[in-house]
Amino acid sequence: MMSLGGEDEQSEDYLFKIVLIGDSAVGKSNLLARFARNEFYPNSKSTIGVEFQTQTIDIEGKEIKAQIWDTAGQERFRAVTSAYYRGAVGALVVYDISRRQTFDSIGRWLNELHSHSDMNVVTILVGNKCDLKDAREVSIEEGRVLAEAQGLFFMETSALDSSNVSAAFLTVVKEIYNILSRKVFLSQEQQRVDTRLGDGKTLILQGDGSEPETRIRRWCCSSS
Ligand code: GTP
Ligand code: MG
Repeated sequence: MMSLGGEDEQSEDYLFKIVLIGDSAVGKSNLLARFARNEFYPNSKSTIGVEFQTQTIDIEGKEIKAQIWDTAGQERFRAVTSAYYRGAVGALVVYDISRRQTFDSIGRWLNELHSHSDMNVVTILVGNKCDLKDAREVSIEEGRVLAEAQGLFFMETSALDSSNVSAAFLTVVKEIYNILSRKVFLSQEQQRVDTRLGDGKTLILQGDGSEPETRIRRWCCSSS
């Protein structure tokens, strides 16, 4: 479904799979309900198995379909883990700012994410229920420090009062889109270079799996 440029550029359809993970009752299903349908359930039940919803988002005139997957935080209700993570390009790792135990679990969720998906999956750490000011057990600073140490985006949200919910999802979608457009740009540049250099000179692209930006800086010329 996803095409990376070329002749049919106008009709491109992007589909990004994004997963929600985190302990039970941190508010994953309500974040999705708020983002996809602007709804909130004060007494929602634990998710059983896997559900997903698709949201269409417009970025720079391109239609992006964000397919957001939600599963149970509780081990016994979760479906086959590897299938859940397969093909994911984005993740929201959620804890509840009013329950420290859910913040302490973040490391475990990140390990699971990284053992089942690409290391480059765009990830945001989400401290949900920031409306519960009086019950706060995890400070914003602690969230920020952990996110920085792990190289993650970070936001506190409230599915109840809507704070930052769209912003958290859109941060992930936009970053995936940016990485993808840089890759398309680079592969198009490579094709142009391949056709241009028919004069004994070769342009070398040292692809090493590093970030696309660093790769741009490593373009270099040599005689062959
Ligand atoms: P599992 O499906 O068991 O993994 O849980 P979950 O992470 O999907 O949690 P869910 O969305 O079902 O929310 C759990 C409880 O927290 C529900 O009672 C929600 O109403 C409540 N809740 C979710 N988000 C918020 C929030 O931002 N603020 C407050 N105050 N309550 C919330
Ligand atoms: Mg749920």
